[in-house]
Amino acid sequence: LARGVTEPDLVGRHVVVSAGGTREPLDPVRFLGNRSSGKQGYALARTAAARGARVTLVAANSTLPAPAGVDVVPVGTAVELREAVLRAAPEADAVVMAAAVADFRPAAYAAGKIKKKDGQEPEPVTLVRNPDILAEISADRARPGQVIVGFAAETDDVLANGRAKLKRKGCDLLVVNEVGERKTFGSEENEAVVLGADGSETAVAHGPKEALAETVWDLVAERLS
Ligand code: CTP
Ligand code: CA
Repeated sequence: LARGVTEPDLVGRHVVVSAGGTREPLDPVRFLGNRSSGKQGYALARTAAARGARVTLVAANSTLPAPAGVDVVPVGTAVELREAVLRAAPEADAVVMAAAVADFRPAAYAAGKIKKKDGQEPEPVTLVRNPDILAEISADRARPGQVIVGFAAETDDVLANGRAKLKRKGCDLLVVNEVGERKTFGSEENEAVVLGADGSETAVAHGPKEALAETVWDLVAERLS
């Protein structure tokens, strides 16, 4: 194939990608959320489809247009995202968790809008842990040989934290990127290191999110064959 032409190396494969950021409701009008734009996950879905894969994109609160030929499953909360991923995983050759999943959710949901009361300080918000979807699907593989990829955004000790996280999660690959005020969130570009459970380390230079996505699929395809 000519340079720049995508190789159809994922034909016959089914991949599941999660994207966006979960929102954890406090009441009908408010939520706890995060700054994930969904762009990296959508780039992963687009590039996998271009390489011939059947793609299920579990999209948390993203307003991005659905990529052509991709099956989009919209979700809101971490619990909904978990259900959608677990439903799709048994048929998947690879699962890539690019979504920013809230670690905690409000312990209680108020069915009616929370109101101020004259002269009263607000109640503190109590949080509870959300399920760790990446750790769960890595520990209980829905299919033998399935390749599981996580993403980690770190602000300090990026590589050391990434290695420890890869081990803790039990996934095959972990894409680690450094985040800061102007880095990654909402931007068109990304820079990362992809750590492998086999000890490998693949640096991806600063560039479009598509380029990082292509590297992720290269590494996934290697592990599938
Ligand atoms: N993830 C997940 N379920 C969660 C939290 C995170 O599946 N409840 C996934 C994310 O989609 C991502 C990976 O785990 O692929 C790493 O997320 P990250 O927030 O970096 O990891 P945490 O274990 O939550 O660590 P931290 O305390 O640094 O937030
Ligand atoms: Ca987290």
